[in-house]
Amino acid sequence: MRAVLVPSPGAADVLQVTEVDRPSPGPGQVLVRVAVAGVNYMDVYQRSGAVSLPTPFVAGVEGVGTVVEAGDGVDDLPIGRRVGWLRGGQGSYAEYVLVDAAMAVPVPDDVPDETAAAVLMQGVTAHYLATDTYPVQPGDTVLVHAAAGGVGQLLTQVVALRGGRVLGTVSTEQKAAIARAAGAAEVLRYEEVPDRVHQLTGGVGVAAVYDGVGRATFDAGLASLRPRGVLVVYGTSSGPIPPLEIPRLQSGGSLYVTRPTVVHYTATRDELRARTDELFGWLASGQLHISIGGRFPLADVARTHRDLESRRTTGKLLLFLADGAGPA
Ligand SMILES: NC(=O)c1ccc[n+]([C@@H]2O[C@H](COP(=O)([O-])OP(=O)(O)OC[C@H]3O[C@@H](n4cnc5c(N)ncnc54)[C@H](OP(=O)(O)O)[C@@H]3O)[C@@H](O)[C@H]2O)c1
Repeated sequence: MRAVLVPSPGAADVLQVTEVDRPSPGPGQVLVRVAVAGVNYMDVYQRSGAVSLPTPFVAGVEGVGTVVEAGDGVDDLPIGRRVGWLRGGQGSYAEYVLVDAAMAVPVPDDVPDETAAAVLMQGVTAHYLATDTYPVQPGDTVLVHAAAGGVGQLLTQVVALRGGRVLGTVSTEQKAAIARAAGAAEVLRYEEVPDRVHQLTGGVGVAAVYDGVGRATFDAGLASLRPRGVLVVYGTSSGPIPPLEIPRLQSGGSLYVTRPTVVHYTATRDELRARTDELFGWLASGQLHISIGGRFPLADVARTHRDLESRRTTGKLLLFLADGAGPA
């Protein structure tokens, strides 16, 4: 089968489209024929070595496809069932991948492959951040960094759904329009944080900062919080954050900092399905909109990583696996 291999960590050009053996499912696993794989910043961290995996490995953690074989003990995912996954399926940039059955989410019939692939990782992340990590209350003002990004656009929408007001950061005018369309009440450039945040909140500061950028935004985010505010660092697209001196939380106003990951917020199948059920419901009712920033054939995989790392993208990037499917 065709797959994208990372032979050793490095820049985007280490990604190799190559032939590898098709795997067989073990107990509790299903073999899925992949239709669409999602491109995520996690794939960049794994490829670059920022997140270390034994090499060589097949890239990709997310996708949508059809169950073609089930391992022992899997009795609720019949052959032919369309499923999506955002974890438990390492090696998703491939024609076939093994997925942990507990982490395979049945995709409703009326949700197309690319919609499901665009809403799983980034939608579940937006969901847990705004409902559990810092549960947005009606009337809260929060700061969402990279609001035109994949997670950023969905998080902006979920905050707004919960009655919150979003101040969103972006790097360009084109991204500002996208963040506004997602529901950001105010759009800021990064260098305007924290001063403009204080202006826009009557000098109080925001209830929470949702930060997937990391090193470049951490200090200004901390300085944007109201007393007892929460800094949620859920990613580090600009690089890792140096160690934090705890007294800064006291002097900043009894602040909280947390570093959540999707693994701990989808710890059980029931928790994962509760989140995906609510997301699919919001899609069906038109309360949530997905934004696909690019559709690519497997051969263009290196370009997807280059574009993501150089901040050229908005919304979700998708790789189409099946011959003849997806982009021309
Ligand atoms: N913890 C979790 O559970 C979890 C799950 C999924 C994703 N994440 C994290 O969420 C973040 C967003 O992921 P995504 O896939 O949706 O990507 P994305 O936000 O679509 O892309 C990254 C964006 O970050 C902004 N950025 C600011 N400084 C940057 C820099 N120095 N280098 C690159 N980008 C920079 C850019 O937007 P501007 O041009 O507007 O600045 C860029 O478009 C990532 O950090 C990812 O690791 C975390």
